[in-house]
Amino acid sequence: MCGIVGILARDTVAPQLVEGLKRLEYRGYDSAGVATLDHGRIVRRRAEGKLRNLEAALAAAPLAGRSGIGHTRWATHGAPTEANAHPHATETVAVVHNGIIENFRELRDELTAQGAAFTSQTDTEVVAHLVSHALAAGATPRLAVQQALKRLRGAFALAFLFAGEDDLLIGARRGSPLALGHGDGEVYLGSDAVALAPFTDEITYLEDGDWVALTRDSVEIFDEAGALVERETVRSSVASVVVDKGAHRHFMSKEIAEQPEVVGHTLVRFIDMTSGRVRLPAGGDFDFSGLDRLAISACGTAYYAGLVARYWFEKFARLPVDIDIASEFRYREPPLTPGGLALMISQSGETADTLATLRHCRAQGMKIGAVVNVPTSTIAREADVVFPTVAGVEVGVASTKAFTCQLAVLAALAIKAGRDRKVLSEEDEAKLVASLIELPRLMAETLRLEPQIEKLAQTFSKALDVLYLGRGTSYPIALEGALKLKEISYIHAEGYAAGELKHGPIALVDENVPVVVLAPYDALFEKTASNMQEVAARGGRIVLITDREGAGHAGDTLATIVVPDSYAFVSPLIYAIPVQLLAYHTAVFMGTDVDQPRNLAKSVTVE
Ligand code: F6R
Repeated sequence: MCGIVGILARDTVAPQLVEGLKRLEYRGYDSAGVATLDHGRIVRRRAEGKLRNLEAALAAAPLAGRSGIGHTRWATHGAPTEANAHPHATETVAVVHNGIIENFRELRDELTAQGAAFTSQTDTEVVAHLVSHALAAGATPRLAVQQALKRLRGAFALAFLFAGEDDLLIGARRGSPLALGHGDGEVYLGSDAVALAPFTDEITYLEDGDWVALTRDSVEIFDEAGALVERETVRSSVASVVVDKGAHRHFMSKEIAEQPEVVGHTLVRFIDMTSGRVRLPAGGDFDFSGLDRLAISACGTAYYAGLVARYWFEKFARLPVDIDIASEFRYREPPLTPGGLALMISQSGETADTLATLRHCRAQGMKIGAVVNVPTSTIAREADVVFPTVAGVEVGVASTKAFTCQLAVLAALAIKAGRDRKVLSEEDEAKLVASLIELPRLMAETLRLEPQIEKLAQTFSKALDVLYLGRGTSYPIALEGALKLKEISYIHAEGYAAGELKHGPIALVDENVPVVVLAPYDALFEKTASNMQEVAARGGRIVLITDREGAGHAGDTLATIVVPDSYAFVSPLIYAIPVQLLAYHTAVFMGTDVDQPRNLAKSVTVE
């Protein structure tokens, strides 16, 4: 799950490689490295940790050469050390890799027996030795790569640089994405168009199984069978600017603050503001009336957005929803209805498990819808119908604005489904849409609670465990609150359905465990309030997040956070904000790396 770039430049290439890698750090930041050709010889700089360490290494000892490859790593095989950092190289070839070579052990044993000396614990190094071996036996670089690819099992995108070949780069993809860019006397390879945006907007996406041989003035693409093929070149709309933090200390804080605006932008794509009716974007229209069921699949935070949507589709459209964590979906072997709709939710559009689920559903004859934030992503390109979120670039590894934008899209889709299936009247639609239109204002008001939440975060930073409780659509928000806290503050946290607490987890409650209760004053409030009393009776310290009416019935709490009153339908988008802020400020108190927490990556492209 790493980022790769390759460039045949007109001038010194190392700064360009770093420029591309900056835009790929979201795919991993355990180590980074580049290799270039200096008078035909492969030379490398590699560094453990973030890209800035590699930049420092290059500043201290710059690399010459106009041709090169680069990598930013999320460790799968082998610790995040310099020795395991890519590019991996022999005298004759250097390679960068995103993905996993599943049969690397067997290949490593075979190559070791033939005399190859391995210097890392990675799966990638076998690729360098395989190609090197073929070159030593007299194969051309093209043939050597072709032979090596035949030996590899797993998912990968690869870029190769060859000693003595200043005008040649070879790339290959199977499972993991790879794009190529066309410049003025320069050519580029990259994990996505974002990496190549500083250099070109003319992009060709390789298809699964393709490999490509690039020189400065020629591009030859071959399919898996080795036949020369043409792939369309498109103009990418990805902006080349590196997004900055503005006045914020972290991207996450900026992205939380942007939510009223980006949710507004997203809603405008799905709602006709003048008529107050749902209107799906052009190319994203879909009729839900003929469906028996809806299958939703996603990972992490996006999965929690799907959990909220299940309540909405079932209530407003009487449409039964099956929802799965994407990494589990295929193993459950659910019976799928050909012609049915499978809905994938993904910020990056590159999550390997979600993509594998998409392909599985497609193979079963289902139609594929995608709620996706990156329009050029693989999931967006492979879906039949795209329902775009307009969150803009999300840099913070912990997803915030993409989540609320996903909820906004799913809310609009649930209303559309309710109308298509004749469950909602025109009047119902108008009411629900009116509550969506109010959202940006209510979200902006909720953000004003930040100073109160910041104070509370000091208490949370001393906790070892935190529980989050909610009922109905507040339950997935409790799960999301717990996920946000653990991923950026490293404090253990769990989200529970409030009614489930007494079936086990209440044993964890004592005066050291803060319990965050999400309870809008709706039809479920009384029941959640009883669960709150059960916690209080055992010395638990409650933080209640509720509205004005709920606060009046709060009883004894450590703190009560009062969010603006809203229609119950839209409360998940409002209650998401205090839990995001609580996680953020707790992490800031603890001094963790908020935007790039340990062990994580923004885009998870391995299964
Ligand atoms: C948590 C988080 C992850 C992602 C998950 C899916 O804050 O960001 O749980 O939600 O990895 O990623 P996408 O949405 O890119 O498919």
